[in-house]
Amino acid sequence: MLKETILSYNSENKLSYTPSFFRIHLTADKQALENLIAEGKVSFVHDEIYSQLQELIKCQNPSVRIKSDEYEALISKHLNGSPLDEYGVWVYYPWSQRLLHILDEEEFVTVRTNRNQFKITREEQQLLREKKIGIVGLSVGQSIALTMAMERTCGELRLADFDVAELSNLNRLRTGLHNMGTNKTIIAAREILEIDPFISVKLFHDGLHKGNMAQFFTEDGKLDLFIEVCDGIDIKIESRYKARELHIPVVMDTNDRGMLDVERFDLEPERPILHGLADGLDPSNIKDLSNEDKIPYILKMVGAETISTRLKASMMEVEQSINTWPQLASSVVLGGALTTDVCRRILLDQFHESGRYYVDMDELVKDKETEKGQEFPDEYIAPPELTAEEMLQMVQEVKGGPEDIILAGDVIAEIVKAAIVAPSGGNAQPWKFVYTDKGLFIFHDEHFSYSLLDFNHLGSYIAIGAAVENITIKAAAMNLHTSNTFFPVKDNTKLVSHIRFTATENPDVKRQLEPGLSIRVTNRELTVRENLPAEFLTNIQSSIESYQGAGLLIIEDEHRMKELGKLLAKAEMLRIIHPRGHYDTFTNELRWTAEETTEKRDGLDVNTLGASNSELAALKIASDTRAIAFLRQLKGGNAFTRSVNKSVSFSSALGIVSMPNYSETDFLSGGAAVERIWIEANLAGVSFQPISQLVFMLARLEHSEAVSGDELYNQQVKELGEELYQLIPELQNRQPVFIFRLSKAGEPRLRSLRRSLESSFIYHV
Ligand SMILES: Cc1cc2nc3c(=O)[nH]c(=O)nc-3n(C[C@H](O)[C@H](O)[C@H](O)COP(=O)(O)O)c2cc1C
Repeated sequence: MLKETILSYNSENKLSYTPSFFRIHLTADKQALENLIAEGKVSFVHDEIYSQLQELIKCQNPSVRIKSDEYEALISKHLNGSPLDEYGVWVYYPWSQRLLHILDEEEFVTVRTNRNQFKITREEQQLLREKKIGIVGLSVGQSIALTMAMERTCGELRLADFDVAELSNLNRLRTGLHNMGTNKTIIAAREILEIDPFISVKLFHDGLHKGNMAQFFTEDGKLDLFIEVCDGIDIKIESRYKARELHIPVVMDTNDRGMLDVERFDLEPERPILHGLADGLDPSNIKDLSNEDKIPYILKMVGAETISTRLKASMMEVEQSINTWPQLASSVVLGGALTTDVCRRILLDQFHESGRYYVDMDELVKDKETEKGQEFPDEYIAPPELTAEEMLQMVQEVKGGPEDIILAGDVIAEIVKAAIVAPSGGNAQPWKFVYTDKGLFIFHDEHFSYSLLDFNHLGSYIAIGAAVENITIKAAAMNLHTSNTFFPVKDNTKLVSHIRFTATENPDVKRQLEPGLSIRVTNRELTVRENLPAEFLTNIQSSIESYQGAGLLIIEDEHRMKELGKLLAKAEMLRIIHPRGHYDTFTNELRWTAEETTEKRDGLDVNTLGASNSELAALKIASDTRAIAFLRQLKGGNAFTRSVNKSVSFSSALGIVSMPNYSETDFLSGGAAVERIWIEANLAGVSFQPISQLVFMLARLEHSEAVSGDELYNQQVKELGEELYQLIPELQNRQPVFIFRLSKAGEPRLRSLRRSLESSFIYHV
């Protein structure tokens, strides 16, 4: 019975947030208060009216030193005959069953804001009493609302949030545990009204939405200022449109690096919302996104590059090792302070500028020893580019006299052009070409390929092998026969290939592949999984046979693909997390802007990655070396496995090209075989994308003497190797040289560029 009474009392009180006022010199009020007491609804009485009167008298006579024994007479004079009990007002808070005896509104406000002077003058305080402020989102919003109430920056607060408090909110929401399950609006209102029952508080328990927006902004008077601190991206945008339409200034606090945005729609009614950062975002499309999917939009709005290192690292772990992005009490409390200060000055016409501002504690308060800029170890820095003199010098060391036929400049240029459209890891184009009367020479220029993955130049040799294949095909189409020698000068790994040309009536059948040279492309787009035609698979199997020692394994079984995909995805993640791999990818390889892409004409244009917006946003924050270092410390990074796992799940098959041995020439010949299959695939309308990091990571682990350094990385690569050989026993006595996926993805959105012929080719006869 008792429990039921308590429960029914609790539910009745769950939504109560308005105090009752009793001025007991009025008979009706006196009766009502007596009834309340008789009903047992008052559990606590706090009557501190006397000390409030003392303070009031002190406030009214600041220049007088009042002795404690003088107060009685002064108070009695002030009461002017009314009994102390009846003076002021009794306020009852139903949610806590507290009854308080306080000064009535005018005197109360005078005493409560007395210490604001003259940071806030009486006149300013009076002006602020007229102001109406709307706040949406009551995490940081609660801190703002409370600070505003304490400072009395306004007379009315309209608060909107649809959420209830949960335990995990209590790291930043100033309230007691007993409020779990209570609406955040109610919690904020109660806290405010317990500080000052005379502030008008209006609540919107189901948050701000289209249906109540007009009411929120205009009912009972237009808002003077709107504070937007909510998570709903659609509401962020829609509410700004409304504020702009009504010429209401907007302030937003972002809880990271003390970032504060001011949009003076009152002064600049044409101003683009969110400084133009929300251009092109359609609120209706982004309404129901998951936390993870919201990230790219949030990053665009808050500026992916400018957020703090720890927030970046956290963003990369959302829905991996954490549920959502972090918010700290210190930032929330700081946000309350910053926003209140700025809003007060806006409301008092003392500050007018729109913009984005930072009060970044990490920047403002830090050890004097300033952090060094981004410095990379010397061993990351690539050797200088090969010069023409060096290359010609090396050619001199090649034995043999002039060729029977010397190709004209434009003829050999056509052939070299075919060579440079070959694929290369990260589009490094690790080659240089020299044509002399002895034939065509291909050099490996480490300047372009120097990286973690290009261990022993093996990745470059795959690319050069592919370029040699292209030359053979192009030459055949021009009725030329080629003969190739790898490493014509002993112990010289820079001079990789010497190709001689002879005229022939009987060119290689590979000439048929010539149209495929220019269509061959890396296709990273995703489409639904579709089986590949059996005839195509038979054809590529028979083609590989003409490459001595080469083997091709095609995996179509979905389970096996998925398992192999996991290993490839983990390899991709390990590369990104590895300090050197990160440097290679983000400092060297990726091209973020159209200008950079067209100026350098190598590397990977991020737009060719086939990445979704959220993947691109993740990539952008992943470019921060410090954020990645922190992620490494957390042993995080799983988000980087997502894109490979996803592309494998959309693939028709995975393929592995292997060779009998671990040697430079095996990788060169393997490269030629890969190119052949790639061209045939593309000619047959089958899309091809390498996912080959694991091959090169394993090669380093298995063949490098220097395995010191990152023990964890080495261990993880080792485990991937063991799993690979267990999953694909066919590889056990073979050397994998290339792994790729096949799909039916049509034409990719973009093709990669190549450096100019002039920068890679010397005609010297
Ligand atoms: C040795 C080698 C490794 C490669 N590894 C990858 C890879 O892991 N992921 C990927 O998407 N592309 C990979 N590629 C494809 C290259 O990025 C691509 O060939 C290059 O950007 C040029 O673009 P294109 O092939 O469209 O002409 C690799 C290419 C080579 C030759």
